[in-house]
Amino acid sequence: MTETDVECAKQAEPTQEAGTVEIFIMGKRYRVPIGFTIMKAIEYAGYQYIRSCGCRAGFCGACSTVYRKEDEQKLSFVLACQTLIEDGMYLVQIPFVPANREKYDLDELKPEDNVILSIYPEIARCVSCNTCTKSCPQDINVMQYIQCALRGDIEKAAEISFDCIQCGMCAMRCPADIKHYHVGQLARRLRGKYLDPESHDLKSRLEEMKSGKYDQGIKDLMNKSDEELTEMYRNRKIEAAGDLDNTEEVSK
Ligand code: SF4
Ligand code: SF4
Ligand code: FES
Repeated sequence: MTETDVECAKQAEPTQEAGTVEIFIMGKRYRVPIGFTIMKAIEYAGYQYIRSCGCRAGFCGACSTVYRKEDEQKLSFVLACQTLIEDGMYLVQIPFVPANREKYDLDELKPEDNVILSIYPEIARCVSCNTCTKSCPQDINVMQYIQCALRGDIEKAAEISFDCIQCGMCAMRCPADIKHYHVGQLARRLRGKYLDPESHDLKSRLEEMKSGKYDQGIKDLMNKSDEELTEMYRNRKIEAAGDLDNTEEVSK
């Protein structure tokens, strides 16, 4: 939050309207500046994130949030770092979903039709209610990848679940107690290990690592100061951007 944001909001408080919206956090009313994400608004209201916050960029899935709008019976499930506040939101932060991952040794599994079912037999209990799909902030067709896993279509289950960020919002609402994101992860692991063609780039990079090519570089990094690391980060070359100057992007 910038000083300008705070100043604008303070100026708006006495009249309680201009540039702000009314939200409720754990039942308590707050007015916060328009344009904030839920995460920023919660911090602006004075709360500090100890958990349920990670990347702040929609990747880690840590910031699952539930809200309901006034006069709406339906609950909405979103990521706090990616969703803008709206007037009349009643917000609740929810703790991490404690859905345990089953233990398995990927080297001992085979990419056969029933392999996922044998590790996560509860997928056979799916009643096709589609609640998981409706809960997903990544717009993944979650029910479809569970059905693919059930049919033994590992490739498709891996492909459909590829954008999963493991937030757990599907699992917390599933009436069949399915741990969807672990199912998708297993499908992707099986596909990566057994079904996709071998990546030559990855193979040669692994060989380089094993030969110790990067050991000295890592030691040098460990000995650098925070300032030196920050400078290196600012001047880093982003592969996808080729030789473009990324200084402006990084300094934002
Ligand atoms: S929420 Fe559970 S039971 Fe419903 S479709 Fe998804 S996996 Fe199946
Ligand atoms: S599939 Fe489930 S765990 Fe993955 S992003 Fe969607 S809701 Fe979150
Ligand atoms: S904090 Fe990582 S997805 Fe929101």
